[in-house]
Amino acid sequence: MTAGVDVGHPQAQAIESDEDVVRVRQLVRTVAVAAKLSLVDQTKLVTAASELARNTLVYGGGGSVEVTTVDNGLRRGVRIVFADSGPGIADLDLALTDGYTTGGGLGLGLSGARRLVDEFDIDTGAGRGTRVTVTKWAR
Ligand SMILES: Nc1ncnc2c1ncn2[C@@H]1O[C@H](COP(=O)(O)OP(=O)(O)OP(=O)(O)O)[C@@H](O)[C@H]1O
Ligand SMILES: [Mg+2]
Repeated sequence: MTAGVDVGHPQAQAIESDEDVVRVRQLVRTVAVAAKLSLVDQTKLVTAASELARNTLVYGGGGSVEVTTVDNGLRRGVRIVFADSGPGIADLDLALTDGYTTGGGLGLGLSGARRLVDEFDIDTGAGRGTRVTVTKWAR
């Protein structure tokens, strides 16, 4: 938990299917509107969330997401945590490189998501699953 940030009640959801990925997009959009993010920032956050949810499903073997409004005293924002108990990422720098994929994708999901948010953190490692936390602040 980041110091000095008050959080609302997290909205949790499983990520086990393509339909769940669609629901994640809808949930993030709803919370982003409530947090008064601009339309552009809503769309950036939804796009990042969509990529991360897809990774949770495809590489993590499914998992969960939690979406929360946050407030640091200056700004409101939205924080999203994706968690899975899959194989984890052995080389994070490599995984964050544009174009790197082990699944025949474009290899732009993680790196693109990082560029679309204000804060980006990954806790992962071979054999210990993956937890990605992103935050977008209203401006
Ligand atoms: N939750 C995860 N668990 C394990 N490995 C992951 C996870 N998320 C990403 N990775 C690894 O990081 C690589 C890069 O992910 P990224 O989202 O950037 O690309 P991609 O999913 O392969 O392609 P794209 O998202 O562009 O369709 C993946 O190919 C995969 O090897
Ligand atoms: Mg991806």
